[in-house]
Amino acid sequence: MWRRWCCSRRAASAWPPWGSRWASSGKKKEEALISTPIFYVNGPPHIGHLYSALLADALHRHRRLLSGGSGGALATGTDEHGLKIQLSAAAAGTSPERFCDSISAEFRELFKQAGISYTDFIRTTEPRHTRAVEHFWTTLQERGWLYQAQYEGWYCTPEESFLAASQVTERPDSQGNLHTVSLESGHQVHWTKEENYMFKLSKFQEPLLKWLQENKAAITPKLFYQQVLQWLEQDLPDLSVSRDRNRLQWGIPVPGDSTQTIYVWVDALVNYLTVVGYPDAHHAIWPAAYHIVGKDILKFHAIYWPALLMAAGLEPPEKILVHSHWTVQGQKMSKSLGNVVDPVACFQQYSVDGFRYFLLRQGVPEHDCDYYDEKAINLVNSELADALGGLLNRCTAPSLNPSGTYPGFSEVSFPREAYAQNGRGSGRALAEDYMLVSSVKDLPLQVNNSFERFQIYKALESIMDCVRQTNGFMQRHAPWKLQCKDPEQELWRDTILHIVLECLRVYGILLQPVIPTIADKLLSRLGVRSTERSFKNLNFLSRYHGEKSPFEGRRLGPDSGLLFPRLEKAKNRSCGDT
Ligand code: MSP
Repeated sequence: MWRRWCCSRRAASAWPPWGSRWASSGKKKEEALISTPIFYVNGPPHIGHLYSALLADALHRHRRLLSGGSGGALATGTDEHGLKIQLSAAAAGTSPERFCDSISAEFRELFKQAGISYTDFIRTTEPRHTRAVEHFWTTLQERGWLYQAQYEGWYCTPEESFLAASQVTERPDSQGNLHTVSLESGHQVHWTKEENYMFKLSKFQEPLLKWLQENKAAITPKLFYQQVLQWLEQDLPDLSVSRDRNRLQWGIPVPGDSTQTIYVWVDALVNYLTVVGYPDAHHAIWPAAYHIVGKDILKFHAIYWPALLMAAGLEPPEKILVHSHWTVQGQKMSKSLGNVVDPVACFQQYSVDGFRYFLLRQGVPEHDCDYYDEKAINLVNSELADALGGLLNRCTAPSLNPSGTYPGFSEVSFPREAYAQNGRGSGRALAEDYMLVSSVKDLPLQVNNSFERFQIYKALESIMDCVRQTNGFMQRHAPWKLQCKDPEQELWRDTILHIVLECLRVYGILLQPVIPTIADKLLSRLGVRSTERSFKNLNFLSRYHGEKSPFEGRRLGPDSGLLFPRLEKAKNRSCGDT
């Protein structure tokens, strides 16, 4: 069908269907939008939601440090319309408005506690959003992409979607009664028949393929890009984009047709335009949008959303960054299993930064990750308390650093010339020490590349690898054994401390997007001023590279206690207990 359409003379002259803007632009925008999905308010937030928000927050903070500016916009918020919310409010014996107010506030509070640096928190019940959705809908209608049709199919309320026959199956419940359920989510579906507005999604199969072929990094990681290509090779039926208002009152009415409510996913996706000022001011940012999404909502973001945008004459977002899910002790989180992990309880147990670190260090976007208390405790203890905290402790301890300063660096002890192959160089440094200097020098680039590729866990892995090398350096030279009375040994001891403090300064700067509070504590202890913490200040070991160092001889900052106190294994309670 779409082939016939796109090959006809009329269609060819109207090609591309979203107008010439997309074809002609390609200019990188200065400002960008990083977005989280907007969260359903049918239940309180859990660690999966927090993970989506943390990924977005770390990217946003990283961008800010790179640019030295605002880092652009970070939008999050709540998705408040739809049958699911209408039913949950009814079950709770309250109005949808009150229900949404209370759960939306919980998300906002959680994100405040978690340090999510959002610049906008949108609720789909706000008037600015209604206006954007109405305008978007009217544009689709005026451009001829909507039509009315009798629609029938299996409707899955938790997924807020009609499903094809191939997407459902029959399964017995605990009493042995057969129910039709969604193959993907396992939720029960109901046969639904109604007059709806349909979006001509089928016409976008080819434009979507073209978009993806020309933008191979538009969906990251690759695995999910391939998945979308596979979907696009199958049939792409038109999409029902409204619901009978008798069945769904809790939503935005179709402009000019009060018998229909706009489909909650169209309503929700438009939030990304609302936050950039659509329909008046979005061109300043759009399409420089980076959507962080979980794998369960990939189809909505990688197929429906770009197609809707093209139909409305707008470009698809620049990137869709996809992550997998958190399971708990090998099981999917669910209310019925009682294993939903409460992020606030985790903050109490591990501290906010401890838990941020755990999720971002262990979460690998390509595959699901499993959460259990012991794993989280072991990780933060070994990496934050022992490796990083221990290093800071050692080189700031009065016994080793009695002057409480950033000591001087000696070129004699650690000469710049290449290390001689035949054993020692002219100074005290060994081959491994030169390797450490080179690793830490390359670290910012590695970290930036990992962030760019949406592999924050890899950035943390590289930092931890350098932290371990730095501990090895300290251990190898045991500066506590050097004689302070011998000037040559003293110079060497100061040089060791200078190098370790420089390494720590780099780690502190690079860790800010992930553990902002701990990084602040670390940098403050080193005496690094708030104006000296952006990526342009990295300038690692400038004395070794023959330049001045603003830190040499500077007093360390005040000692505010352990960087990260070791955690005990919780005896009675875990964060998964509800
Ligand atoms: N409201 C829609 C999104 C609309 S965006 C235009 C929605 N909401 S949600 O609350 O169900 O999910 C929000 C995000 O949380 C999704 O990215 C989803 O993948 C993520 N997570 C929900 N459970 C999760 C895990 N167990 N693990 C990791 N993330 C998961 O979908």
